[in-house]
Amino acid sequence: MKNKLHEKKAVITLILFFMLGCSVHNQEANSEIDNKVKNLLSSMTLEEKVGQMTQVDFAVIGVPEQLNADNPIDQARLEDAVLKHHVGSILNAPYTPHSKAQSIETWRKMMQTVQAVAAKSRLKIPVIYGIDAIHGATYTQNSVLFPQAINMAATFNPELSFREGEITARELRVSGLRWNFSPVLDIGRQPLWPRLWETYGEDVHLATVLGASYIKGHQGDDFSAPDKAATCLKHYVGYSFPINGKDRTPAWIGERMLREYFLPTFEAGVKAGSPAIMVNSAEVDGIPGHANYHYLTTILRGEMGFRGFTVSDWEDIKRLYTRDKLAASEKEAVKIAVMAGIDMSMVPFDFSFYDLLLELVKAGEVPLARIDEAVSRILNVKYQTGLFEPNTPVLPVEGNFSTPEAIETNRQAARESIVLAKNANNILPLKKESSILVTGPTANLLSVMNGGWTITWQGDEENLYPQNKLTVFEAIQLKSKGKVTYIGGNSFTDKIDSQKAVEEANNHDIIVLCLGEKPYTETVGNIDSLNLDQTQLDLARAMLATGKPVILVTLEGRPRIITTIAEQAAGVILGFLPGMEGGVAIADILYGDYNPNGKLPISYPRNTNDIVLYDHKPIESYELNSYKPLYPFGHGLSYTTFQTSGLKVEKNQIDSGENINISVNVKNTGLMKGKETVLLYLNDVAASVTRPNKQLKAFKKIELDPGQSENLSFTLTPYDLSFIGVDLKRIVEPGDFKVMVGNETVLFSVTKNQVKYKWLM
Ligand code: BGC
Repeated sequence: MKNKLHEKKAVITLILFFMLGCSVHNQEANSEIDNKVKNLLSSMTLEEKVGQMTQVDFAVIGVPEQLNADNPIDQARLEDAVLKHHVGSILNAPYTPHSKAQSIETWRKMMQTVQAVAAKSRLKIPVIYGIDAIHGATYTQNSVLFPQAINMAATFNPELSFREGEITARELRVSGLRWNFSPVLDIGRQPLWPRLWETYGEDVHLATVLGASYIKGHQGDDFSAPDKAATCLKHYVGYSFPINGKDRTPAWIGERMLREYFLPTFEAGVKAGSPAIMVNSAEVDGIPGHANYHYLTTILRGEMGFRGFTVSDWEDIKRLYTRDKLAASEKEAVKIAVMAGIDMSMVPFDFSFYDLLLELVKAGEVPLARIDEAVSRILNVKYQTGLFEPNTPVLPVEGNFSTPEAIETNRQAARESIVLAKNANNILPLKKESSILVTGPTANLLSVMNGGWTITWQGDEENLYPQNKLTVFEAIQLKSKGKVTYIGGNSFTDKIDSQKAVEEANNHDIIVLCLGEKPYTETVGNIDSLNLDQTQLDLARAMLATGKPVILVTLEGRPRIITTIAEQAAGVILGFLPGMEGGVAIADILYGDYNPNGKLPISYPRNTNDIVLYDHKPIESYELNSYKPLYPFGHGLSYTTFQTSGLKVEKNQIDSGENINISVNVKNTGLMKGKETVLLYLNDVAASVTRPNKQLKAFKKIELDPGQSENLSFTLTPYDLSFIGVDLKRIVEPGDFKVMVGNETVLFSVTKNQVKYKWLM
């Protein structure tokens, strides 16, 4: 053990030296790039500059799908975009609106074609091509597709998030792609929102740690390296908290809440080195994201010090006029957005932004200095990405794409992302000999495990999914030594013959009932209620009425209400969207070939209007109010048991500028080896702004053999003790603090006068 620790320390020291070296190297590289950008900018025409700020969809340069032999690009249209309109960026996969995964060869050819045309332009400025590779290289056929972010959050494992970033970047580079519209750093605090699953859940600390880790894996210290790619944080900021739960509808977030819950993940993403940020498609407090100078410039630039560029979301500058009625014309919309701080417009289907911005600058309505600023940022990122280095070879397929190691990492991520929520009388793990009836609309489909942004935008074209991956039913069938029968359809909406299922149930020992949602993303996924549809409820009722033990497995992007089913089911497995290896991972857990350790990164509501989150304010659990979710944040069972004890703070009193060390023992008190995540919560006992009952401030995941124990230590910094004060500045106030781990609570106090921090740290 000791040796291992020494080894670990040595590795960390090496990494620190390396990072120090890198940061000196990075500073030099930065000033070199700044000079190159200055030179290039000085030789650009206004048209070339405005073109750099324009991003168009693939549709603008594509041939119709039917005419595509193996290169989907229309040369003349591409030349019109890049040479005539000087377009600096293109996005998306062929073919809009389906945007469908292409082969590695097609991508390579497309990227060569695009850059070859860019190389014919007067200044040979390369195009930056962006793609939504949010859980792996979505749009490259047969890529490794990970669990979605909500599942990655359930792993509580930053190393897996790092590995996901690494593998995604590598597979993008194999495809010739270098810029990923990921990670989503919105906080998932509105369960109805159809993009909840794209987030790392409701907790700020967890999302911050996992998001930063993903970026580091994806970019390394230099995202121009042959196996790295640039990221893009999204959707800055407040997008995820629509009051009515529908995508692209208003959020009402006060400045304190914004700073405390919604900005920290983005701040961490900026610090982790992400060079681009995509903007909130909706509005906060009456101001559309694309018109919000305060967020885009005062905070993002002035406070966070972000040096990369901002890109609008889909058509959102136009929408300031067409939808929001904030601008009186499309031209005014362009002016508002650019002056608020948008550097690049995802137009996406025409050159209107280019034309209108040119007019605005010529009329003196948008100063040239603002254009120069935006273009400098874009060129800077293009240099950093290595796009200016011609003929960079693509990463070879061999050893870099869909490797057995990457698939195994994906499988491990899926296993660690699945939450065992209920296991009455240890019904699980199942005996391999048991006969099993598998039924339900999510039992035999790959799409329901992957969700949106999988092969296509909505992820719902099951026929495009790889044949060699296993659904839940297929994975159970493969492992079982007993009879396995499937009653269900071939698509999510196919009618299931519940009469037949009831008859079959009588011939089997156990029912595995798979419910949930079909794939979706964005507005397409809007719902009016978290309740499951009646067809699924009827099937569940029929299965429960058979009296056979029911194991409920959910595959869904958000917590659909399962309360009455879960109460009667013998076991409940919350699968969320575990990705391509989800079927295997669920079967591993069902049969005990893997000991589950996923924990809920959200509060699972008991009822559809029961939206109280774990870090609620005292008033939300006062008198008649209460936090009574079906399953709380952090819930997740194992086939073994763990006990934490001996929670200790190193000092009972600290100064407000000091760190505090905390330790706790954790022991595997059961009979099976397993992983446990120890969650450390904090509560500021009395403060000038109401504080949450508890907030996650640290966590550690460890693996223990039966009987084995480990002493874990944590350090909380002043930042961890701070909050956004009455004057909207981050502050640590003197007084008592409670530390909570498992069933234990210890107190310490902070003395001395209150210390104010710049909110960034
Ligand atoms: C989504 C973004 C995405 C973009 C490009 C938008 O509709 O909101 O998340 O990156 O499209 O595909």
